[in-house]
Amino acid sequence: MSKDWKTRLIHSDATAPPGFRALTTPVYRASTVLFPEAAAATDEWNQYEVGYTYGMYGTPTVLELAARICELENGFRTIVTPGGQGAISLIHLALLKSGDHVLLPENIYGPNRSLANQVLRRFGVEVSYYPPAAAAGVASAFRPNTRVVWCESPGSITMEVQDVPAIAEAAHRHGALVVLDNTWSAGVYFDAFAHGVDVSMQALTKYVGGHSDLLLGAVTVRDPKLYEQLGRTHQAIGCPASPDDCSLALRGMKTMAVRLKAVEESALALGGWLRERPEVELVLHPALPSCPGHELWKRDFTGSTGLFSIVFQKRYTKEQVLRFVDALQLFEIGYSWGGVTSLAMAYELVSPQRPAYGHRIVRLYVGLETLDDLRADLEQALTALK
Ligand SMILES: Cc1ncc(COP(=O)(O)O)c(C=O)c1O
Repeated sequence: MSKDWKTRLIHSDATAPPGFRALTTPVYRASTVLFPEAAAATDEWNQYEVGYTYGMYGTPTVLELAARICELENGFRTIVTPGGQGAISLIHLALLKSGDHVLLPENIYGPNRSLANQVLRRFGVEVSYYPPAAAAGVASAFRPNTRVVWCESPGSITMEVQDVPAIAEAAHRHGALVVLDNTWSAGVYFDAFAHGVDVSMQALTKYVGGHSDLLLGAVTVRDPKLYEQLGRTHQAIGCPASPDDCSLALRGMKTMAVRLKAVEESALALGGWLRERPEVELVLHPALPSCPGHELWKRDFTGSTGLFSIVFQKRYTKEQVLRFVDALQLFEIGYSWGGVTSLAMAYELVSPQRPAYGHRIVRLYVGLETLDDLRADLEQALTALK
């Protein structure tokens, strides 16, 4: 049919030359997905079964990232979410209902705790906490209505490594599912499913993204029934990941092995050096013996990454600890981690359920700067403690 130029702006017959091949995944941005005929239109979410139906459920860029994470974690399917916390929310909302009970470790990532306390309780879900070192002893925390047990290993800030297989064994005996926040290991240094986990999540924001410029999360499962449950909830709550962010994450993945190796080596060297410093009481690095659960790390993990904490000696005041962080020149002050830049963050642990480190704990993320420069930076900042 003949077309006016204004119609041609939208329905063009022009084409680019064919035959383009490149190493990158194209960024497919779309809300509307086209169907070949009226009868083929469907709003089904499972694009593996019905083909592409709506941008909400993933364009090829999003689903390629999902498939690649799934491959790395040895899962059946992965759902990519707009952030790590979004992945956490999706899991809670998909697996729990009013009257159920969920168990979380006392050292769980703060926003996960807030979601459980402030939102899940409001919807009639019982929430309670267990000591991260509980292992098989977690059994005493179960109630008849316990449906989900979370693990986070190592745990946020205090870095306790958990006995995930023992917790999984107890959970399965009680008919509960085990969810793991596997962000620290980037989904590669701890094989979640081989250790009894049912749902593995990670914040792709950290090591997969790798450059502090995106927010994404991933939820991976082995069981098709769980995929169905999560997929339906994902559709219902409508939290699609941006294809642009997924494209950056696909790029980040390609260099993740070399980045992880570099941050592992530097973090181990700095952790070992800090352990010898008179100002430091404890180095909470899973690969060092002073970290609670270090033996479990040796048993279950195949590597370590760039995030660990230090605890200053009892004589240091909060002002001194903050002065140390402020004096750092290469370690920047900021949340999140897994990028190329080293970071430091001082915390104040006030909960009686957490170790009594108080204001003396500082979390360090070791980036890709030269090790000697990072060591010199820490050394000059330690002099500020005096
Ligand atoms: C252990 C852990 N899980 C989940 C998240 C949440 O990730 P996001 O910042 O992408 O929401 C974080 C972020 O700091 C984290 O440290």
